[in-house]
Amino acid sequence: MSISFEQKSKIIITCPKFIAPYLSKEVTDLGFTITDQWSTGVAIEGTINDCIKLNFYIRTGNQVLWLIKDFEAVNADLMYKEALTIDWENIIKKDGYLCITSNVENDTIDNNLFANVKLKDAIVDRMKEKFGIRPDSGPERNKLVIHLFWRENQVSVFIDTSGETLSKHNYRKLPGSAPMQESLAAATIMASGWDGKTDFVNPMCGSGTLAIEAALMALNKYPGLLRAYYSFMHIEGYNDEYYQSIRTEGRAIALKSTPAKIIATDINPNAINATRMNAQTAGVDHIIDFEVCDFRDTKVPSDNLGVVMINPEYGERLGEYEDLEIIYKAIGDFLKTSCQGYKGFIFTASPNLAKKVGLKASQKTEFFNSKLECRLLAYELYGGSKREPKIVSQ
Ligand SMILES: C[S@@+](CC[C@H](N)C(=O)[O-])C[C@H]1O[C@@H](n2cnc3c(N)ncnc32)[C@H](O)[C@@H]1O
Repeated sequence: MSISFEQKSKIIITCPKFIAPYLSKEVTDLGFTITDQWSTGVAIEGTINDCIKLNFYIRTGNQVLWLIKDFEAVNADLMYKEALTIDWENIIKKDGYLCITSNVENDTIDNNLFANVKLKDAIVDRMKEKFGIRPDSGPERNKLVIHLFWRENQVSVFIDTSGETLSKHNYRKLPGSAPMQESLAAATIMASGWDGKTDFVNPMCGSGTLAIEAALMALNKYPGLLRAYYSFMHIEGYNDEYYQSIRTEGRAIALKSTPAKIIATDINPNAINATRMNAQTAGVDHIIDFEVCDFRDTKVPSDNLGVVMINPEYGERLGEYEDLEIIYKAIGDFLKTSCQGYKGFIFTASPNLAKKVGLKASQKTEFFNSKLECRLLAYELYGGSKREPKIVSQ
């Protein structure tokens, strides 16, 4: 008998540090009730079918974990004994392949890999006893993934229903230099409060992550449309029907066009080439205007004022800093003179360079970009005389 895809259990959705508020909003918008939230994840109650839906729709998460069992274990031998009592034969296909991942903090374990091997041993020993054969196992996350979460004596064993991380949205064929993670880009756009209907301008677009995520949001297109495989497809008893119904729903709600103009510019022709190709892969190139130009020459439309978002370099290499001081000051001038009436945003890891912008940030939101602490700085760019609405006299 296979596991029920309608059985409720705890679901944990993980995310990079500081992204939980945006993940929480996405999960709530999908109709779920958050039961717990911390800096790198949220918890809800739900079924494996709910996990299928979450995997398809979520833009800002990493993994969707469905709890198989909680138990206590003080050391690896006791963890093995408890794990052996789980009905693995109802979860794993007898000719399946599984990967174990873990997050362990227990005094008796100084190497996570040891804990992984102990859990794998329990699973394959149980499968061997039931079927006479051992499932294959290894590091590949493209089949069934089992996740071990262990804190002191508390063990939780999950099905990681995602497998490969959800943070990649599968359109980036050409990365460019210092690209943002797709889920992080989506979270920064959510943090900007952009409504998807006004214009979104992205100078210094690099490989186009911000512009493409904005376009996907404007068109109501969700990451699952660009992904073919998940770990849940390898759970014993999986039947494609529910997942296909979610895909059909996701395709039906995707829009063909939007009133929002999305503008992506970069001084480097290779970056614009990458942005165009990545946007084509994402199926959103028809709503993005691409241009090779210095950020100061970006044509900012003035009829549907929305968001200008810039992710400049932060000067990690020696000797770049002084040039970047000039660039950050020029970004401030560009926002002030060319983007009046927009909400301006700069995403940077350098608070010192941010000071050179010369504008007072109305808000600073914390993020992490590949282990570097970053800020999304918001600027209110009040409309000057150039953009003031005309007063029509009768
Ligand atoms: C940190 S990268 C942006 C990465 C982007 N967010 C992504 O996800 O791929 C900064 C980009 O600014 C561009 N750039 C540097 N100086 C510029 C300038 N003066 N005008 C326009 N773009 C510039 C670089 O070519 C680079 O692609």
